[in-house]
Amino acid sequence: MPDPSPRPDSFDPLAAQASADRSKGTADGRAVLTDPHLNEPASNDPASGGSALTELPSNESPSSVPTLRGPTLGGLTLKNPFLLAPMAGVTDWPYRLLCLEMGAAAAVSEMVSAVALSHRGRGTLKLLRTDPLWEKPFWVQLFGKDSESLALAAKMAVEEAGADLVDLNAACPARKVVSSGHGGALLKNPDLCCRLVEAMAKAVEVPVTVKLRPGFSPEDGPAVMSLGLRLADAGAKALILHGRYVTQQFGGEADWSLVEELASRVAVPVIGSGDITSADQAVKRLMDHHLPAVMIGRASRGRPWIFRECLSRLRNEEAPPASLRERLNAAARHARLLEEEIGPKVCFRLRTVLMWYTRDLPGAAKLRAGICAEEDVNRQLDMLTRAMEEAMEAEARDSEEDEKKADASADALADA
Ligand SMILES: Cc1cc2nc3c(=O)[nH]c(=O)nc-3n(C[C@H](O)[C@H](O)[C@H](O)COP(=O)(O)O)c2cc1C
Repeated sequence: MPDPSPRPDSFDPLAAQASADRSKGTADGRAVLTDPHLNEPASNDPASGGSALTELPSNESPSSVPTLRGPTLGGLTLKNPFLLAPMAGVTDWPYRLLCLEMGAAAAVSEMVSAVALSHRGRGTLKLLRTDPLWEKPFWVQLFGKDSESLALAAKMAVEEAGADLVDLNAACPARKVVSSGHGGALLKNPDLCCRLVEAMAKAVEVPVTVKLRPGFSPEDGPAVMSLGLRLADAGAKALILHGRYVTQQFGGEADWSLVEELASRVAVPVIGSGDITSADQAVKRLMDHHLPAVMIGRASRGRPWIFRECLSRLRNEEAPPASLRERLNAAARHARLLEEEIGPKVCFRLRTVLMWYTRDLPGAAKLRAGICAEEDVNRQLDMLTRAMEEAMEAEARDSEEDEKKADASADALADA
């Protein structure tokens, strides 16, 4: 995987906006367009010369090929069944990069407002930043409630930012989102939901997917069973189901039997999401529910290597936990990538991001307080490095002690 830093070829939608104003020109060799008739959208069909997403990176040996392929979404086959779930405020490009490097077959962007994107809002355009060198496929999630802005936003995501997949959010339970008729509220209006998908599928040639909950509330029952069939007819090439009703938000447990039931009813791939906390569990969900893929969300925070562990477990290999050194390196890399995106104000963001990596460290509470009080990324990283190095030294001392004890009992046995 190429190091994205510096990112000379990275797609910058803000630059693209200026470019688009001039009606033509490319920021990175990708299309930066205003006239759809002048350019073909990128094809994902290997036969047509598009990117072959199942091809191995050149540095990966054949023995490391997972035995199980990922799902085919429209004409696009993912290289394995473990995907990063979309998380607003979390799955920005640095986060997606770390997870893709660790083996995730695809990573969904944060949700992007179709209306704001179609009006070229600066902050919204930033959410589409990526680098085609490492992000393949680029999967953009949109939220909206009118066909026109969703169709236009989908077109922009594909033609200007190079999206390979576009997802419609019909799942978000956040009060602000639902009360304005977006996200999970779409489940209360199946006709509208289908019209939106139809408009998006007509607007772009890449696969359109939909992220869903089973229904709006448990009292209404799993509306998704009939809606799923209609969404596939409307042009959805895959459905992603988080097995909690919208009104449940994140309470209770995700119901994977509903994911399995939906998968048995529709002809398109159904991807399951909800409460996967370990690689073993990810593989178990995949196998037990006969699914083509699963998404991992919260469990990947501060643990991007969970995707590597999933691939090992799928191949029935041991998946040793990441070492403290690896944790430290990943945290530092995450911080530096975010700094590249945000600048010096990254220190505020790191108050959350570095916390994810400090889980289970001795003295974590004090370390967290120290990191939160700092307003300089270098000092924040120094603090984390010192704490991790102390933990590594303690770990080395413990294993030395253990070895001594083992030697002593072996000697005692020999003497006896
Ligand atoms: C902080 C956070 C933000 C999320 N944002 C989105 C989002 O933008 N779009 C979406 O479809 N789901 C979103 N989700 C839901 C996740 O994609 C996923 O379905 C859910 O967290 C259950 O999976 P998990 O238990 O593996 O985290 C979000 C979840 C979290 C925790």
